[in-house]
Amino acid sequence: MTTKPNHIQPALLQELSDSFRLHGLISPELYARYRIKRGLRNADGTGVLVGATRLGNVHGYLLNEGEREPIEGRLTYRGYNVYDLIRGLEREDRFGFEEVGYLLMCGALPDRRQLTAFQQMIGQERALPNNFTEDMIMRAPSRDIMNKLAGATLALYSYDDDPDTTTVENILRQGISLMAKFPVIISHAYQAKRRYFDGASMFLHVPDPTRSTAENILHLVRPDGQYTDDEAKLLDRCLILHAEHGGGNNSSFTVRVTSSSGTDTYSAIAAAVSSLKGPRHGGANLRVVRQFDEIQANVADWTDEDEVAAYLRKILDGVAGDGSGLIYGMGHAIYTLSDPRAVALKRAARPLAERKGLAAEMDLLELVERLTPGLLRERKGIDQPMCANVDMYSGFVYQMLGLPRSLYTPLFATARIVGWIAHRLEEVATGGKILRPAYKPLSKTAPYLDLDER
Ligand code: COA
Repeated sequence: MTTKPNHIQPALLQELSDSFRLHGLISPELYARYRIKRGLRNADGTGVLVGATRLGNVHGYLLNEGEREPIEGRLTYRGYNVYDLIRGLEREDRFGFEEVGYLLMCGALPDRRQLTAFQQMIGQERALPNNFTEDMIMRAPSRDIMNKLAGATLALYSYDDDPDTTTVENILRQGISLMAKFPVIISHAYQAKRRYFDGASMFLHVPDPTRSTAENILHLVRPDGQYTDDEAKLLDRCLILHAEHGGGNNSSFTVRVTSSSGTDTYSAIAAAVSSLKGPRHGGANLRVVRQFDEIQANVADWTDEDEVAAYLRKILDGVAGDGSGLIYGMGHAIYTLSDPRAVALKRAARPLAERKGLAAEMDLLELVERLTPGLLRERKGIDQPMCANVDMYSGFVYQMLGLPRSLYTPLFATARIVGWIAHRLEEVATGGKILRPAYKPLSKTAPYLDLDER
């Protein structure tokens, strides 16, 4: 693959950038003066209420006399606690991501007949259109699978005979098809990346319509296509835990915003994929694993609390890590005492870590989780409770499953597609108004000057 020569001269680019910095920046003081809800947050950190949903409920604190009272986190999908959903699946030793997709998109848990029909429909929809992998993925492979996923999602518009109709039936049809195809797109995009950027061989396995989403992912990604039932069930639980997180998270809100304009499903979902890529959202799982590489490389004794704490202090002070002062995998906008997704993943990860000889790595993650709140108090005076979030353990689980890093965030998208479609349906069927908040205009009117007068 060839890339085009860059015609943008550095000196000119610097001049353009300086111009933006001189004229384009807005002082934080103006946000306070105009009482702007920065980040769509209220002054107490809670989100501005902009909609209603029957989907995910992210419960992380109680409001008592206007003060946040920390509680253990709880996540429900249409009223069902995710712990109960997973426990039920464990009892019956079944895969459950498809069932959770049905619950979120169609409104209720399926009975046996409905579930079988839904699973068959997904199986039939897995295959990509003829030559799609060759034309849309291999012809222009990307280093970043999220960018390829967003592009491929937009491209699927061209293969749909009825792409723009926004009835419930049509959105559901498109949503089921995207849910079925995302595992294939990310796997083929990963294989193309291996071939073109990593100098490795490419394995384009064919999806199996009779297998679950989790099984297909392992089958498509691994060169030999093989996996154990335990591995596939663990991945299935990961997908369930990432399937939905309320309407206010950045990518679901993106779906709400774009869907409210009446745009098509492919455009709305491509926008959500683009949002999820960001390191402050789904992309955080990559930052966590990179940060742990660094801690492991720089701390000689991973069991020495003082040595680990000393390195974490450096990260908080911005002299180690990526300079942001953040310990990735810690903290959450809503959860206080615990993030139920992190709790569930941690529980599922331990036995596998023992089996794979990675117990010391897992102990280190847990030590960072334990030390961080005290260090934040010491370094930044932050006294509020702080828990590990889902990203603390998701990357570790994927690593134990032998899944490549470039797929960590795409796997999140492959799970969250069902939540996105459910939010799109809710917005289109019941929102009824284009989302259109206000921005305070700050520029003074200026007389236009002819070119020679400037
Ligand atoms: N490391 C260092 N400082 C942290 C922190 C962390 N992991 N999490 C929060 N803080 C700091 C914030 O910077 C803020 O400090 P400031 O007031 O000096 O700016 C303070 O603690 C209060 O933060 P809070 O209001 O509770 O969090 P938030 O809602 O603004 O942000 C996150 C929530 C998730 C964005 C934040 O915790 C974070 O950046 N975590 C690390 C990235 C991550 O793991 N993201 C995945 C989320 S699922």
